[in-house]
Amino acid sequence: MTEEIRKGLAGVVVDATAISKVNPETNSLLYRGYPVQELAEKCTFEEVAYLLWHGELPSPAQLEEFQELERSQRHLDNTVKRVIDELPLTAHPMDVVRTAISVIGAQDDTVPALASSADAEANLRRAMSMFARIPAIVAYDQRRRRGLELVEPRDDLAYSANFLYMTFGEVPELVVVNAFDVSMILYAEHSFNASTFTARVVTSTLSDIYSAVVGAIGALKGPLHGGANEAVMHVFDEIEIAERAEAWLDQALVEKRKIMGFGHRVYKSGDSRVPTMKKALDTLIEHYDRPDMAELYDRLEAAMDARKAIKPNLDYPSGPAYSLMGFDTELFTPLFVASRVTGWTAHILEQLEANALIRPLSLYVGPDERHV
Ligand code: ACO
Repeated sequence: MTEEIRKGLAGVVVDATAISKVNPETNSLLYRGYPVQELAEKCTFEEVAYLLWHGELPSPAQLEEFQELERSQRHLDNTVKRVIDELPLTAHPMDVVRTAISVIGAQDDTVPALASSADAEANLRRAMSMFARIPAIVAYDQRRRRGLELVEPRDDLAYSANFLYMTFGEVPELVVVNAFDVSMILYAEHSFNASTFTARVVTSTLSDIYSAVVGAIGALKGPLHGGANEAVMHVFDEIEIAERAEAWLDQALVEKRKIMGFGHRVYKSGDSRVPTMKKALDTLIEHYDRPDMAELYDRLEAAMDARKAIKPNLDYPSGPAYSLMGFDTELFTPLFVASRVTGWTAHILEQLEANALIRPLSLYVGPDERHV
């Protein structure tokens, strides 16, 4: 038997999904059939979370019930707070959110008995409990790194406004809240990316939903995946001024560095989410009066196109957008977690509906059989 190795599973179709469709030919991304650009323009992140989990957009009554549930679970309990407090400030914020989710999972005493498709309802409840609490975890971590007290959530605010309120102690202007909400919608789901696949692998063993999310957070942390939004900002910091973009890039390419925020395994002629996020970034650039950032953005993008014909991915506009909003750079990837937990958990539920243990083969290339 000849075994063909597909490194990185590139081009391999692993399973079917009804959650999202990435089409590189038409440069489109559909969540449950809806173009993501349309969702970003017309819906809130809460509506999109509902859509991902339930397959349909909510009616007004369903949305109200969903929002009530989300708003009622935003608080962190003392154990989670204490564990976060105990973690050193040298720990990366992704390690903090990963640990906090692990604690929340360990506190759920209903878990061991509930790891099959019959438990969809219980798993949806757990998905909601993570979705509602991650903003508090991320906001608290950002504040403690700045020596600030935790800000308790406000249940009169929608998801994104409350997230920003808990982080910064005030609700920013609508243009900022809207840009943040758009980023949450765009990051929410992207078929079988590395972290979602990780969540599905963990789920396929009939482990629990928290373990699957913890595994997914670990996969997202890497700079080839979610960690790229943080890395993009380091690139901007390194370049410093727009005039240096081309020279910086030439040197980086000589050194064979991967340019963070560019390229994609599936999209080869541009990431479908970039124009929408770039539009949101432009509103922030205008709001904060930062034409210098716009110039650096454009020059690096043009230089990368001219030299390598490689287009930006979603992390390229979202990195500077989060920076303008006031987040510390190392908090960017946890923001991705806050959004993607919706997609991950939708996939965990889907995996359980028709589960098969994910267990590929390998080609052995070690020594032939020998004896001690
Ligand atoms: N910078 C420089 N060269 C690149 C880049 C990049 N960002 N992306 C691809 N290339 C080059 C590679 O060097 C390679 O060139 P070669 O054939 O001469 O060796 C060629 O393009 C193909 O690249 P691969 O890495 O093999 O393509 P792959 O599909 O495995 O990579 C990936 C996709 C990992 C995203 C890659 O483009 C990358 O590392 N980008 C930077 C990290 C990043 O931005 N990740 C975010 C992904 S999107 C998201 O998570 C929202």
